[in-house]
Amino acid sequence: MVMLQNQNFSSCLPTNVQFGLDIVKNELPREIRLANKSRVFIATDAGLVKAGLIESITTNLTKNEIESVVFSEVEPNPQAETVMRGATLYNQESCDMIIAIGGGSSMDLAKAVGVVVSHSGHILDYRRGEKAVTNPIPLLFAIPTTVGTGSEVTAVAVVTDPTVGRKYVVAAPYLIPETAFIDPLMTATLPKHHVSATAIDALVHAIESYTSVRATPITDGLALQAIRMIKENLPASYANPNNLEARAQIHLASTIAGMSFGLAGLGLVHSCSHPMSAVYNVAHGVANAILLPHVVEYNLISNIKKYADIARIFQPELVLKDDQTTANELFGLLTSFTASVDIPKDFSYLGIEVTDDVIDRLANDAMDDKGTIPTNPRKVYKEDVVKIYSKVLPR
Ligand SMILES: [Fe+2]
Repeated sequence: MVMLQNQNFSSCLPTNVQFGLDIVKNELPREIRLANKSRVFIATDAGLVKAGLIESITTNLTKNEIESVVFSEVEPNPQAETVMRGATLYNQESCDMIIAIGGGSSMDLAKAVGVVVSHSGHILDYRRGEKAVTNPIPLLFAIPTTVGTGSEVTAVAVVTDPTVGRKYVVAAPYLIPETAFIDPLMTATLPKHHVSATAIDALVHAIESYTSVRATPITDGLALQAIRMIKENLPASYANPNNLEARAQIHLASTIAGMSFGLAGLGLVHSCSHPMSAVYNVAHGVANAILLPHVVEYNLISNIKKYADIARIFQPELVLKDDQTTANELFGLLTSFTASVDIPKDFSYLGIEVTDDVIDRLANDAMDDKGTIPTNPRKVYKEDVVKIYSKVLPR
């Protein structure tokens, strides 16, 4: 029997990515008219309304005879009831499409509202696939104003149920935005520390999808390109926040990494970082950045060649060394890269009391991350997760 190097896969990247300065101003109205839509529901947060960004976009739409209804109640980690209120407004106002403007939370909410207005019942009915998303949602455009999440090209929405204190995933191909507008002007005012943490999140998306058990030659190409772009541009963007070119490359790299992990999945960095965010409120990008070198060190043995590829992006001279020697350098290369953008090396800055019980609970939560543990390149055991947490939670 003939053996193929890659197992069977199908690979669909349906989002039209529009990139460029002023692309929102110049292309958004045209795209809406092309789709024959005239009354858009905008999912956003109060901060962007206050900053005047939403008004500049809606004024431009009005000039082009497109009506807009602004729902600005999006909070960090959008709650199920907020989704339901958004859906009620969408229906009351007879909107005919949805635009998400903001960070991951706005995109989560927009996707979830899309599910509710095109299906019966409550958004929580659709958590973890309990009820299937069987119908197309309304036309969805995404305008990310932060970097990192990649949600503008992925099929996932995360909704919080505050009554049980849990986040739930609602995922289906219908949730993938039709068009994503990557306009560097949207991220120009982000603080540099925010950009460094979220750019490292995008770097983790790229590294984890490159080494995922579901990686394919298609996602490999996307992941490697995103890693190169972040390595080449993050230091410049951090050193000079007015460097719009470097900021633009980071913004685009984040979307490319999103395309990669949307297909290939993530791994143990995310499994371990989610509990740190849920329990200690650590920003997602910071938690990932601290965990990344340690998880890579753990995973190294699973795919020496691929980790060597990544190391050579950070230090091209390693092309002269063999794969094993090169891969062994990756821990140090990643540690100095995150340190160069002032990310702490461990969680000691939190000043928390770390006991065996604390680490045990975190490890249980990490092992329960059904979305990321199965795609990690190395089979994960709880005792290994305990060891990783013990390195980044010094006593
Ligand atoms: Fe992430």
